[in-house]
Amino acid sequence: MTAVTSGAAGALRGTLRVPGDKSISHRALMLAASTAGETVVHGLLEGDDVLATAAAMEALGAAIDRSGDGGPWRIHGRGVGGLAEPGNVLDLGNAGTAARLLAGLLAGQPFNSTLTGDASLVNRPMARVTGPLERMGARFTCRSGGRLPMTVHGTDQLRPIVETPEVASAQVKSAILLAGLTAPGRTTVIEPRRSRDHTERMLRSFGAEVAIEETADGTAATITGQPELAPAEIRVPGDISSAAFPLAAAGIVEGSDVSVSAVGTNPLRAGLLTCLEEMGAKLTRRPLDDGVEGGEPIADLRMESAPLSGIDVPPERAPSMIDEYPVLAMAAACAAGSTTFHGIGELRVKESDRLSALAQGLAACGVEVEETENSLTIHGRGEPPAGGAVIAADLDHRIAMAFLVLGQATREPVTIDDGSTIATSFPGFARLMGDLGAVLSADGPGP
Ligand code: S3P
Repeated sequence: MTAVTSGAAGALRGTLRVPGDKSISHRALMLAASTAGETVVHGLLEGDDVLATAAAMEALGAAIDRSGDGGPWRIHGRGVGGLAEPGNVLDLGNAGTAARLLAGLLAGQPFNSTLTGDASLVNRPMARVTGPLERMGARFTCRSGGRLPMTVHGTDQLRPIVETPEVASAQVKSAILLAGLTAPGRTTVIEPRRSRDHTERMLRSFGAEVAIEETADGTAATITGQPELAPAEIRVPGDISSAAFPLAAAGIVEGSDVSVSAVGTNPLRAGLLTCLEEMGAKLTRRPLDDGVEGGEPIADLRMESAPLSGIDVPPERAPSMIDEYPVLAMAAACAAGSTTFHGIGELRVKESDRLSALAQGLAACGVEVEETENSLTIHGRGEPPAGGAVIAADLDHRIAMAFLVLGQATREPVTIDDGSTIATSFPGFARLMGDLGAVLSADGPGP
């Protein structure tokens, strides 16, 4: 455990790049391992979660080579359905995306594999993916409550299905589509509220046939199974979920002006930007024409501090900003008036129970909050709260980073009890924030 303290330093200024997108990085490794040939990935996130996926794909028989510091990653795949039985349990650390997407990919491989993870991951629900994958013909043996460790009993006889998942989740959709790679025929996932579509975009760039159609029940994504995936060159954009932290910090620390270059701005991920704009933030988006390979839009984003006002965040926006509620809550705590996040029950099953972690942490910092089973109301006073609290980060990188952002604005410093999980998604967070002028001090190796 490494405690980290964040204390007000004054205005934050500068331009930075954030590491590669975590969602896209996981998918790049898994899909590259399912091609026949060598895929080159530039800008892969080298955070613990993605490194866990890389290790898993190696254990499953892909040859992975990283040419020097900062160089591209090269992945020699084994073709669709061609992975090899791993010699040991696959330990995915803190990475929920790795666990759920791998469950789908492994469902269609004719061998058994066992997935586990850290104290946070082994308590996260897996039934949301195992249910549909069982309907496709795979079997799973889990700990009680459908939790990890979990053995996937894969098969090369999966059946295609049409599924309308109960939760709006890109992980569930992706698990089904990845399983659909090995099933003969068309596997469809229908979403009443669209979640991030990185899997669909990347499958297409590897040559799979993926159709997106509007239906009476929602948006349907259909993969035609058993394609030959061709290796591709992938450029991973900067992670908007990481850019969110310096941008929000600039929004709440007076006199700040921070730009983040080449951030992925897929509209199904950009709900935070909409919220910040509605709150009155001075945010400038400059889309880059050249885009990135794999069909993901990118933009340079700039945030200058400005007075913020409270807003109502509707439930239908949740899938497009599901990981950004923690940092938006910090902006809401500094805004004038009340902000309510509606329909955010899913936050209770993230790396921690984020709804309660936010309510408790904000209250400890002197903010008036109201928590219900699936909503959070934050009463801002038009100035930063007092701070001066120690927050339990609870193995949750985004809770940790969010409260370190708040500490840059509060009168008293804010301490998080453990910053070690920040490296799961945002290695270099403390250094990059320090370059902007933030003051973060760790009582051990920094995050
Ligand atoms: C992710 C989807 C989201 C998000 C997670 C990454 C993905 O989870 O919270 O950090 O890469 O597909 P859900 O699909 O469970 O909402």
